Amino acid sequence: HVAQVVQVTDCGARALTKDSMKNIAVLQGAQSGYSVLIGREGTIVDIGTSQEIETRHSKDDIDQVIDGSRKCLIPGLVDAHTHPVWAGDRVHEFALKLAGATYMDIHNMGGGIHFTVDHTRQADEETLFASFSDRLHQMIQSGTTLVECKSGYGLDLENEIKMLRVLERARRESKIDISSTYCGAHAVPKGKTADEATKDIITKQIPAIRQQIDAGKLHVDNIDVFCEKGVFDLCQSKAILQAGKEAHLQINFHGEELHRLGSAEMGAELEAKAISHLEEISDVGISAMAASGSVAVILPTTAYNLRLKPPPVRDMIEAGVIVALGSDFNPNAYCSAMPLVLNLACVTLKMSMPEALVAATLNSAHALGKSDLHGSIEVGKLGNLVLIDAPRWEHLIYQMGNHNNLISTVVWRGNVV
Ligand code: NIG
Ligand code: FE
Repeated sequence: HVAQVVQVTDCGARALTKDSMKNIAVLQGAQSGYSVLIGREGTIVDIGTSQEIETRHSKDDIDQVIDGSRKCLIPGLVDAHTHPVWAGDRVHEFALKLAGATYMDIHNMGGGIHFTVDHTRQADEETLFASFSDRLHQMIQSGTTLVECKSGYGLDLENEIKMLRVLERARRESKIDISSTYCGAHAVPKGKTADEATKDIITKQIPAIRQQIDAGKLHVDNIDVFCEKGVFDLCQSKAILQAGKEAHLQINFHGEELHRLGSAEMGAELEAKAISHLEEISDVGISAMAASGSVAVILPTTAYNLRLKPPPVRDMIEAGVIVALGSDFNPNAYCSAMPLVLNLACVTLKMSMPEALVAATLNSAHALGKSDLHGSIEVGKLGNLVLIDAPRWEHLIYQMGNHNNLISTVVWRGNVV
């Protein structure tokens, strides 16, 4: 993707500096009249007042000018947790949950993830890619420029590889950055025990996927497990994550969602890059994550949809845990719009708007090991930007559900997308 030299002019640029990794956004250049210049390589080459940029660069060298006057610029949003490749929706289960069924009631009846696995196994790559592309397009329109995407609706080698191939194609062809995650331990496949599934993942699936990576056929960044009572227990989860780490995948998994199993402590011990959900995390788990630097990926849509106890985000922030946000887009939580996720994070989890912004940009990028190129408006980072048509950037959170009207331009690696 060769970008043009793009200049966004006269905007109120909200840059988040590297110092803000610990949950508080440092909003620089908050006054209007700033310009950001993106080079042909797609990275930011200069930032300054529009006057400074004009003196440092000749107009002839600039291919495209985006008028940012009376608008606000923020970094492209980073969605740290999604399950976006699947066939078959679950609107019928949504009705059951509204009527009182729990997530695990439905899972244990063979629905939930199992329902999606049945449909995803039957779908071919082309079909999965088509719906996935549409979903990525929706994400881009909502301001997301980097998204973590999981497999996990295959649950056997053939179907997990099929999902990872769909992710790989999107990684090469789509106008959004993707961090891809192997989540073969998303559920125990029907007909197997959790121990049998664990063995299959460790001895068969992980080595085969590593082989595909080494052959240049796949790029996989992270390994994930659903560590939960009735799915993979602490011991099985730890063994799978360790095997993934030995295969050079970053540990990034589901823990402490419905039951307190001590997965936060286990993840901290393994120096997990990130742990998601954490509704049931203990104070000991919080201290362990603060010490290990493992990022807490908080998923407000899921807690909202399933009416779960909200994760103790304020306690985490006060203890020094790095907090990030994700949409958790999946057939159980059908929302990929990060601006809505930020609104929920502020209202239901008591985050401030600057905390939510840094959680959904720099901290999310850090959760994926990509904060060197993503998550803030800085020279040397990718030209991934969102221009908001409002006098203050906070309107993106405040105007609940109105992001499609507020986002006037999304720039990805210097291209207007
Ligand atoms: O993060 N909790 C496990 N995984 C997903 C749900 C996936 C599904 O229900 O299809 C989550 O919420
Ligand atoms: Fe998830």
